[in-house]
Amino acid sequence: MGTVSPPVEIEAERLLRALMNVDCDPRGRKWDFAACLEIAPLTLEINRLKKERDAVILAHSYVEPEIIYGVGDFKGDSYYLSLEAKRSRAKLIVFAGVVFMAETAKILSPEATVVVPDRGSGCSLADSITADGVRRLKALYPRATVVCYINSTAEVKSESDVCVTSGNVYSIVAGLPASQVIFVPDRLMADNLRDELRRRGVNKEVISSDGTCIVHDTFTVDQIGAARLQFPGLKVVSHPECTREVAAASDFVGSTGAMMKYVKQTQAPYFLMLTECGLVGRLEVEAPEKAFIGGCRLCPYMKLNTLEKVRDALLSPRPEQIVTLEESLRQKAGKCIERMFALAPTN
Ligand code: 13P
Ligand code: SF4
Repeated sequence: MGTVSPPVEIEAERLLRALMNVDCDPRGRKWDFAACLEIAPLTLEINRLKKERDAVILAHSYVEPEIIYGVGDFKGDSYYLSLEAKRSRAKLIVFAGVVFMAETAKILSPEATVVVPDRGSGCSLADSITADGVRRLKALYPRATVVCYINSTAEVKSESDVCVTSGNVYSIVAGLPASQVIFVPDRLMADNLRDELRRRGVNKEVISSDGTCIVHDTFTVDQIGAARLQFPGLKVVSHPECTREVAAASDFVGSTGAMMKYVKQTQAPYFLMLTECGLVGRLEVEAPEKAFIGGCRLCPYMKLNTLEKVRDALLSPRPEQIVTLEESLRQKAGKCIERMFALAPTN
């Protein structure tokens, strides 16, 4: 066995301090010193390359913990990461997330080269409707305001009036003057939006397309009922991409950022997180005193991100890893995102 150079050992210790509480690992790894030592040369290389290339890594909370805590510069939900992309002055942005998020970063930071570790990291929502599909809805409902969830392609955004994220969808739509709204592409979020508008006494017709998130549409009310019986005092936390029945049976519904905040601030013996498992991993790191029962699911697209692919995208990105957008499309799509920033609540 070869000797380990001190910087690698120091890096492994840093990784161990960050990762030792991760129990919900997507590949079932146990984060001990040996596991950290294995990835330390790669995280050292990536962190060196970031400086050399004037690069930042934006990491969504659903990607693997060694990316988030080993090399990520900014970690969070879609809204936070889009704000950071807009603020960024880096020459190179590596987006460890899914392609629509990297496209959003390119729209907001056009001078930067934006790369994705894996071009196959799609999203069942973003892939569920095309710009043509939106145009067809607009032809059917010509007076409606078109609202697109950020989980959509740049083409779909370019056909929309305003973009929203899971963290601001309710307040932005409630505040729109239009009485009729086309909401794409999430049918289940549209159901939750209708329910929330009704609760707020806001009278609007919401027309939706038929996409769903392949992770969040699998959670069920039966799962919640069984968990509540087994774990008295349980708090159930879900995302607005879940069904309206799951949302109604939950103690809290919100964006991944809001879910993290809620868990950190709430006293409860157990939490059931009805979302992607990466968020549970983040909470195990950042709120180690909380207890989580199983039930989360993996997003196969998010899990295509690996440290090796992040390194390759930094070192010499292949053409398919580089996000390019035709300028007029970028500008049109940018308008609907900028409108979101103008309408979003500031806290
Ligand atoms: P958030 O913006 O809440 O992080 O959601 C992104 C996503 O893809 C959820 O499935
Ligand atoms: Fe898309 Fe669902 Fe994966 Fe989020 S979790 S990226 S909505 S498929």
